[in-house]
Amino acid sequence: MGKVIVMDHPLIKHKLTYVRDINTGAKEFRELVKEVAMLMAYEVTRELPLEEIEIETPLTRAKSEVISGKKLGIVPILRAGLGMVEGMLNLLPTVKVGHIGLYRDPETLQPVEYYCKLPTDLQERDLIVLDPMLATGGSAKAAITFLKERGATNIKLMCLIAAPEGVKVVHDEHPDVDIYLGGLDEKLNDHGYILPGLGDAGDRLFGTK
Ligand code: PRP
Ligand code: URA
Repeated sequence: MGKVIVMDHPLIKHKLTYVRDINTGAKEFRELVKEVAMLMAYEVTRELPLEEIEIETPLTRAKSEVISGKKLGIVPILRAGLGMVEGMLNLLPTVKVGHIGLYRDPETLQPVEYYCKLPTDLQERDLIVLDPMLATGGSAKAAITFLKERGATNIKLMCLIAAPEGVKVVHDEHPDVDIYLGGLDEKLNDHGYILPGLGDAGDRLFGTK
């Protein structure tokens, strides 16, 4: 069964407070989303396999560990997932980046797909799906299904903020997927927005309304 890992770190909690704050402007919001993604990358890569190599320090020869040639990929869900890409690439500069375009129909709350470009060797990669918000779970569920239909077998989901409803939907549909969260909020409101949440992540990142 997939794990749900809620980050318990003062830096993440501190930065998420200002991400949530309505008085945080777009420039600072983007910077904070990037920084939280970077901090979460530390935890989401915790189980990456290592291999031993031999190096020479200034004093002696030594055996030391490096990340073994595991192929990774990150897949932001457009648009808002884009805000997390740079933070991930800061720590994982060689990963391939796929994109899935989904928006949530405001009436039905169902995800609508409009774009997809993925690494060709998807089957060989461990994938991390990025989206700041996991609300009803419809978008993340659809994106993960989409990746599995194209052969992906090892997928993690990483979100800044989630509602319990969305966690359950993804967990029930994709029990093999570990979910990494910056914070787990209380509930959804009647319009499918996370409470207390941060509002509309895409609009706050890109200054639209
Ligand atoms: C937001 C968010 C998720 C989705 C979450 O995207 O970035 O993708 O809603 O909601 P769900 O869990 O109920 O599916 P949105 O559809 O607003 O599109 P955007 O990223 O283009 O703003
Ligand atoms: N999408 C967002 O951007 N925010 C929410 O609270 C829910 C869905």
